[in-house]
Amino acid sequence: MGEDDFREAIARWYKVRFNMDFDPNEEISNVIGGKEGVANIARAFINPGDIVLCPNPGYPVYENGATKLSDAKPYSMPLLKENNFLADLDSIDREILKKAKLMYLNYPNNPTGAIAPKEFLKKAVDYADDYNFYIIYDNPYSEFTFDDYIAPSILQIDPNHVEINSASKMFNMTGFRCGWTVGNKDIIEGLRKIKSQIDSGCPKFIQRAVIKGLNEYKSEKKPEIIERTIKTYQRCRDILIKGLNDIGWTTDKPQATFYIWTQIPKKYRDISCMDFVKKLIEIGVVITPGIGFGQYGEGFVRFALTQPEERILEAIERISTLIN
Ligand SMILES: Cc1ncc(COP(=O)(O)O)c(C=O)c1O
Repeated sequence: MGEDDFREAIARWYKVRFNMDFDPNEEISNVIGGKEGVANIARAFINPGDIVLCPNPGYPVYENGATKLSDAKPYSMPLLKENNFLADLDSIDREILKKAKLMYLNYPNNPTGAIAPKEFLKKAVDYADDYNFYIIYDNPYSEFTFDDYIAPSILQIDPNHVEINSASKMFNMTGFRCGWTVGNKDIIEGLRKIKSQIDSGCPKFIQRAVIKGLNEYKSEKKPEIIERTIKTYQRCRDILIKGLNDIGWTTDKPQATFYIWTQIPKKYRDISCMDFVKKLIEIGVVITPGIGFGQYGEGFVRFALTQPEERILEAIERISTLIN
């Protein structure tokens, strides 16, 4: 799936960005945004009753669109603050691991903003080898990183798994619906078969626009067109983090993504994150309750840095009147 020149551009990008070689014909497919790839890979590989390991809190499509709609069973891997929001792989029951067919992982992470050290990825790959499952590494925030942090690809650890990425965050092209899957050729082939009976791919002119963007890469460093956008979000991140901490809402600074994930203020810990969010809505501030990303998101909320600086400052002032 995808035009020849699109798949070749993805192969070139992996070479320049991650120093890896992939065959554009067998190891790369276009998808209509990462979301479609996340869901349809499961459709291609999951049988009713199979277990799929999913991060929780996590992008809801792993548990719902991918797993439950394939009549499979999600197993939630809690992403806890005390573990830097990394899945605690050692705590997963051996019987569950034996039955697992896929594991979704996503770092830089939505909703927590966490990043994963390479040792964690190595450990995940070792588990996948030992228990014979595939990792679907959802990496749409690979370029959405701050403070000189450069996010890895899981394929650098083991090219036998699959990585999904898209133009949505990288080039602010969410509405254009263009993404790609790279890696294990059996999985790519399965995905292509499924897609050939469901859709006819992303429009050619959009694929061409994405090629142009990807060709801006000359090394693993972000090209200027992306760096400029990231700097804007970095300023918003710094304003929000400083603002929240100044008004007494202790919040850590993430090194990636445009999300700020934080525990609800101490004063409100006896109510649910949903009820806390409702209080904010009453003063005109809309953020996402953590429970929307799974049960382990309870007690947290997610801010999205997708507003101009003045509105973020205004939101902080309003929040201050509520919590102080
Ligand atoms: C973790 C994660 N995966 C996948 C997606 C889907 O992105 P798209 O389908 O726009 O490529 C998103 C979008 O919010 C996301 O946060």
